[in-house]
Amino acid sequence: MTDKLIIFDTTLRDGEQSPGASMTRDEKLRIARQLERLKVDVIEAGFAASSNGDFEAVKAIANVIKDSTVCSLARANDRDIARAAEALAGANSARIHTFIATSALHMEKKLRMTPDQVLEQARLSVRFARNLCGDIEFSPEDGYRSDVDFLCRVLEAVIDEGATTLNIPDTVGYAVPELYGHFIRTLRERVPNSDKAIWSVHCHNDLGMAVANSLAGVKLGGARQVECTINGLGERAGNCSLEEIVMAVKTRRDYFGLDLGIDATQIVPASRMVAQTTGFVVQPNKAVVGANAFAHASGIHQDGVLKARDTYEIMRAEDVGWSANKIVLGKLSGRNAFKQRLQELGITLESEADVNAAFLKFKDLADRKSEIFDEDILALVGNDTRTGEQEHYRLVALSQQSEMGERPQASVTFSAGTQEHVVTSSGNGPVDASIKAIESVVASGAELLLYSVNAITSGSTESQGEVTVRLQLGGRVVNGVGSDPDIVVASAKAYLAALNKLHSKNEKVAAQG
Ligand code: KIV
Ligand code: ZN
Repeated sequence: MTDKLIIFDTTLRDGEQSPGASMTRDEKLRIARQLERLKVDVIEAGFAASSNGDFEAVKAIANVIKDSTVCSLARANDRDIARAAEALAGANSARIHTFIATSALHMEKKLRMTPDQVLEQARLSVRFARNLCGDIEFSPEDGYRSDVDFLCRVLEAVIDEGATTLNIPDTVGYAVPELYGHFIRTLRERVPNSDKAIWSVHCHNDLGMAVANSLAGVKLGGARQVECTINGLGERAGNCSLEEIVMAVKTRRDYFGLDLGIDATQIVPASRMVAQTTGFVVQPNKAVVGANAFAHASGIHQDGVLKARDTYEIMRAEDVGWSANKIVLGKLSGRNAFKQRLQELGITLESEADVNAAFLKFKDLADRKSEIFDEDILALVGNDTRTGEQEHYRLVALSQQSEMGERPQASVTFSAGTQEHVVTSSGNGPVDASIKAIESVVASGAELLLYSVNAITSGSTESQGEVTVRLQLGGRVVNGVGSDPDIVVASAKAYLAALNKLHSKNEKVAAQG
């Protein structure tokens, strides 16, 4: 057993399964690069067989990431596994992660297979995968609710076939820490060849215990890999949060006694990037990455912290990547300075055309906002610079009129494909009027599930507003994010971004469907 804890990040696969969190290939590539800077050991880049879009994203990530292992999920069948291997062909270090459900409930109701059939399919799939890739992870889906005797048989069989990592998911977030920890220990004790594989934990957060359960799996169960996501992103209540696991293991090294390869100073940049890309904002009191995580509001605390930091602080903000908002660029900055700052932030735009598009947006922003922060640049490239497929709708101009006591009016000019529309509408407020104007042409029929506004940088009303819009149409949920110093413009951009996602029809097969 090694004393290193392997961090397996699944933001781009399990995190992305969260309704509305779907990302484009370029967005995923940007996040993968940040995960590499964070030095995660394994990046689960997607589920290659689920859609052409996912295949392309896994392939692109496999081709550029050098320091982390790149992994693709695959159901336990030859087609999925072959597709994963194909997408991973260019990787420096590749892993195929194959899974099949093993709980009585899932086998009977979902798979309609007998336990013996499931055992055989697991065995054959791992055998097939092992011929394509030397690093194979196997997950018994809903493993925590599976019969322990049956689970031991399956796990023993897949290790015999060459599985190198065994991951035990608490798929529905039902576990409690002590029981989950002992469950992992029992499996490791009862599977005869258990020492031939690394054991991994994968916990969902339905009861708010994903991090606690994962840590119990490590401490009590002896697992040496944790599967987690940035900001705990994931379906329902989310997955185990990477930043909390990492900082718990680092801060309480006295208790866990484990090493990590992670560069924790990249945690906050990663958190911001994921939040800005997906539109899933981080709650202010979230551990480690929430805006208040290091804010000492009460006078007594502030006094203590000023006298001696460790009176009230167990971690240092700068150690996880918090830095004061820094003015980095301004109106007079040229294209080279802009490009260099992108590089320093680890942002690689795919083409010179994308850099030019981003620079034009930057210039436009700098004309209206005197101080440009890193957060502004991240929002600019995160939300607004794609020259690619999904820009069917694009905001060209917006003006609005509002006066206390009067019904606001908005006039919106936007393009839809090659056609430009100029539309006017009234509404309860200027945002409502703008959206109604857009909808008077598009008539999407989509239901608005969420509308939220946040300031990108704190401490000034000069900050850009970042708006998230979540739309639902025919069972699909998408998020659109838009930013601008004018929140009505940001709202229209966010709304059009969400419509673009609905328009792109990038359907994929659900991993656990
Ligand atoms: O939660 C789960 O069971 C999963 C598996 C596919 C690993 O995400
Ligand atoms: Zn999961």
